[in-house]
Amino acid sequence: MTILTRRLFALGCFALLFLQFIIAQSPVKINLQEKQKPTIISKHIYGHFAEHLGRCIYDGFYVGEKSDIPNTDGVRNDIITALQELKVPNLRWPGGCFADSYHWKDGVGPISERPTIVNRWWGGTVEDNSFGTHDFLNLCEKIGAEPYLAANVGSGQVQELADWVEYVNSKGGGPMGEWRKKNGREKPWNVKYWGVGNEMWGCGGNMTPEYYANIYRQYATFMPDWTGKGMYRIASGASEDDYHWTEVLMRDVKKSLIEGVALHSYSVIDWGNKGPDITFSNAQYFKTMKKAWRMEELIRKHTAIMDKYDPKQEIDLIVDEWGGWYDGDKEMGVLYQQNTMRDAMIAGVTLNIFNNWSHRVKMANLAQTVNVLQAVLLTKGHQLVLTPTYHVMKMYNVHQDAELISVQFDTPSYEMDGESLPALSVSASKNAEDVIHVSLVNIDHQQGHEIALDLEDLGVNQVSATILSGDDLQAYNSFEKPDQIKPVAFKQVKYTNGKVSLVIPPFSIIVLQGK
Ligand code: AHR
Repeated sequence: MTILTRRLFALGCFALLFLQFIIAQSPVKINLQEKQKPTIISKHIYGHFAEHLGRCIYDGFYVGEKSDIPNTDGVRNDIITALQELKVPNLRWPGGCFADSYHWKDGVGPISERPTIVNRWWGGTVEDNSFGTHDFLNLCEKIGAEPYLAANVGSGQVQELADWVEYVNSKGGGPMGEWRKKNGREKPWNVKYWGVGNEMWGCGGNMTPEYYANIYRQYATFMPDWTGKGMYRIASGASEDDYHWTEVLMRDVKKSLIEGVALHSYSVIDWGNKGPDITFSNAQYFKTMKKAWRMEELIRKHTAIMDKYDPKQEIDLIVDEWGGWYDGDKEMGVLYQQNTMRDAMIAGVTLNIFNNWSHRVKMANLAQTVNVLQAVLLTKGHQLVLTPTYHVMKMYNVHQDAELISVQFDTPSYEMDGESLPALSVSASKNAEDVIHVSLVNIDHQQGHEIALDLEDLGVNQVSATILSGDDLQAYNSFEKPDQIKPVAFKQVKYTNGKVSLVIPPFSIIVLQGK
């Protein structure tokens, strides 16, 4: 190389660096626009899931009436309060895989007469059926959530499900309604949401979609509406990108028999090696984020198939299992895992995706509520910890039943080992009082981003914000330090003449309120 070419090369490198600096510094402009045809973000997108698994029900929700942990009918009072404050819209139960081996009649009537079974799906624990239908439905009433019952199709019978529907929903007169009254509950619970089996392609019976579609039609036929308010039947849906499953269900089940089709997708790096819950590397974090972002592709592609058979969008997509899945502390229970800032990022990104697809996604259930997988609550003896995921769900509950606002922006990228992901995730809504909420997530673990939003046309006069962030990605709320991560007011927001500007720090979530 001559001196001249070397100088030119050095100049070129400098110019490139300078350009990069400029790009990193120039604000990301986010345009918000009210939709021509309003879409309501169903509150049910913020649903939860509780399975008879590990320490979710027993030693989680339910400690029994004789426990010295303060409880109401055996359910921990601190959990009831935490879930009331979270505004849990619905709760799915009793599984999961457990649902397809659960016989509901084992869990009603005098506790002393209930049979004991072994939970063969999860750890072979002894299940004494002390927490059953009454306990679950009464719990839902206490926390103000709609119950979502997952029925046993894999090892159950059509009559068993028909009886369950009658037991919980009929006013009486028939054998099931009268049995319910004898067991202490006069009024029906009017359960609207019903899952017809769970993961029928796997633990629900290893069925083909063609076979399941027929079975589904049979079961759904015997689920009459005792309430007069409408039944909502959800078919067990695809795992991840099994588009054929969705195609067959949409093709073979007639509309009068189905209200929702499910989808299960976990943010797991590799099923053979899920990686640690706390001591994960930056590369593992990146892979988890890649899986979290994949939810958008899955929803887009499943929706495209649904649109083909249901252009009027009368059948909903129900993501009734989602969340992060790692290798946690087995001593703390089956599928127990800690919950770090990585989980907060999964929740922030995924909920934004659900909001932005809320014309088709009408319900979703985070797996699982207490002590299992991406839990919002962790318990140990008398102690209860609110996880970072709890805080995200609570910050985001402002979107429940609000009108979706379209967001447009060019996201900076978050790069690692030659791969690239969108660094920013955003969704926005307007509630019944015309208050605007914008939820912003920056998954980049190193770089903050300057953001500019124009709220003038939305009639906003004042702005405030809340932030969730941590000292590092691996930060979590432990039983010793339960308040390491919690939302705080974010004051560094500039607001002039309808224009908002702020810098979102690395791995953080900001919810902006404008009114
Ligand atoms: O949520 C844990 C398990 O994951 C559920 O039981 C099952 O449906 C899924 O595979």
